[in-house]
Amino acid sequence: MKALIILIFSLPILLFGCSEQAAKSGKNVISGSAEIGGPYNLINQDNLLVTENDFLGKPQLIYFGFSYCPDICPTALQKMGSVQEELDTDGDLINYLFISVDPERDTSESLKLYVESDGFPKGLNGLTGSKEQVDKAKLAYKVYSQRVSLSDSKVDYTVDHSDIMYFMDENGVFIDFFFGKNTIQEIGEAVRKLVG
Ligand code: NI
Repeated sequence: MKALIILIFSLPILLFGCSEQAAKSGKNVISGSAEIGGPYNLINQDNLLVTENDFLGKPQLIYFGFSYCPDICPTALQKMGSVQEELDTDGDLINYLFISVDPERDTSESLKLYVESDGFPKGLNGLTGSKEQVDKAKLAYKVYSQRVSLSDSKVDYTVDHSDIMYFMDENGVFIDFFFGKNTIQEIGEAVRKLVG
């Protein structure tokens, strides 16, 4: 899969390395009000309706991807699993979410199996919905994804998507995000500030 690490923001709100100290530490820098996150209506792996309100009360780690993704998504979710193993052994301090950008193939039934994959966080919530519902969630989190045909067949496709893990606080307020390059230690360090 050609995984694009692309972030499309409607506003020029993200500045990388705008502070010297942050640039040195490798921390992702957010300037101003990022306005990441917002309302959505989706279904979970048990085919139950969920909204953003169902995950408030605990910090959240959220990843958008698709279950057919051969490497990028599993790597990110395994990283999330490692963070859980280090900081949240009982799995009850943080809500872990995987939101599909491929609702056509990611049904709640298929996500039910997927979220239980080896190394993924225990209790990982797998969310999907109609294309419109997923588009709304993607828009709220400024997520990029693009279906790419692999052949002339309509069913043979992959999905290029942003490789970003979002960290939200217990009120659903955006705290930070992590890319593929961020290590488990770096993610853990940021998360520990809220749950340590
Ligand atoms: Ni992926």
